[in-house]
Amino acid sequence: MKFSPSIALTAFGLFNAVRGDAVPWERINKNDSMLLILDLQVGLYQLTRDFDATLYRDNMLAHAELGKIFDLPTVMTTSAQQGPNGPLPKEILDMYPSAPLIQRQGEVNAWDNADFRAAVKATNKSQIIVAGIVTDVCTAFLALSLRAEGYSVFANIEASGTTTPLIRDTANSRMQQAGVQLVSLFSIVCDLMRDWRNTPGAKELLPYLDRYMPVYGYLARGHAAAVLEGEVIPGEMAVFNGTDG
Ligand SMILES: *[C@@H]1O[C@H](CO)[C@@H](O)[C@H](O)[C@H]1NC(C)=O
Ligand SMILES: *[C@@H]1O[C@H](CO)[C@@H](O)[C@H](O)[C@H]1NC(C)=O
Ligand SMILES: *[C@@H]1O[C@H](CO)[C@@H](O)[C@H](O)[C@H]1NC(C)=O
Repeated sequence: MKFSPSIALTAFGLFNAVRGDAVPWERINKNDSMLLILDLQVGLYQLTRDFDATLYRDNMLAHAELGKIFDLPTVMTTSAQQGPNGPLPKEILDMYPSAPLIQRQGEVNAWDNADFRAAVKATNKSQIIVAGIVTDVCTAFLALSLRAEGYSVFANIEASGTTTPLIRDTANSRMQQAGVQLVSLFSIVCDLMRDWRNTPGAKELLPYLDRYMPVYGYLARGHAAAVLEGEVIPGEMAVFNGTDG
C-alpha cells in the first residue's frame, strides 16, 4: 500500500489535531464585525521600526477610519497613556467622540481588563478587526486571547507596528497558527464593501483610498482626468489597438 501521510498521522492521532486547528475561510461581514484601535499611541509610535514612519502614520489613521466609513462599532484602548506611551493621535480621537476609550492602567493584554472585555462584548459582534503597537505584544496577546474566546480575528498587518521585520514576521506567524487571519487594509476594505455599487461603495471609498492608498486614488484621478479633459496622443491608439508590435 502506498504511504499515506493522512493515514499515518491519523494513526498517531495527529491529523485530527491539525484539522481541528485549521481555520475555514471566512468573509468579513460588516453586519458582524467591529473595529479595535489598540494602543496606537503617539509615544508607542516611536517603537514602530518595521515601516517607513510616514507610511505607518497613514496606516494607523486608515485603520482607525474603517469604523467611521463602514459604520462599525469601534472600541479604543490605551496602555498607561498618562506616561511615555502617550494618548491616541488627536485625529483618531476626533473620529470617535462617543466610542468607548478604555484607558488601561497596567494590563499589557487588553483582554485582562474587565472594562475592555465588557466594551467588546457589548458590541455583540463575532468578527474583530484589530491593529496595535506593538505587533508581538499588544496585537498578538489580544488576538490570541480573542481566538481563545471564540472570536474570528482579522489582524490588519499594515497598521500593527513593531521594532524589527523579524519580530513582526514571528508575531504574525504565531497569530496565524492560532487562526488569526492576517489581512491587508485593501482586503479588509473590499471584503467589508463587497461590491463597488454598495453603500459604502465607490462613492465613499474612492476618496478614502485616495487618502490612504494613493495607487488606487490616482488610478481614479487618472481615469477621471482622461474622461473629462483627456485626448488620445500619438502612439496611444496603436498600443490600445495592440497594433504597435
Ligand atoms: C447586512 O444586513 C443587511 C440588513 O439586514 C442585509 O441587507 C445585508 O445583505 C447584510 N450584509 C451582508 C454582507 O451580509
Ligand atoms: C447578538 O447577535 C446575534 C447574532 O447576530 C443576534 O441573534 C442577537 O439577537 C444579538 N443580541 C443582542 C443583544 O443584540
Ligand atoms: C485603432 O483602431 C481604430 C478602430 O478601432 C482605428 O480607427 C484606428 O485607425 C486604429 N489606429 C491605429 C494606430 O491602429
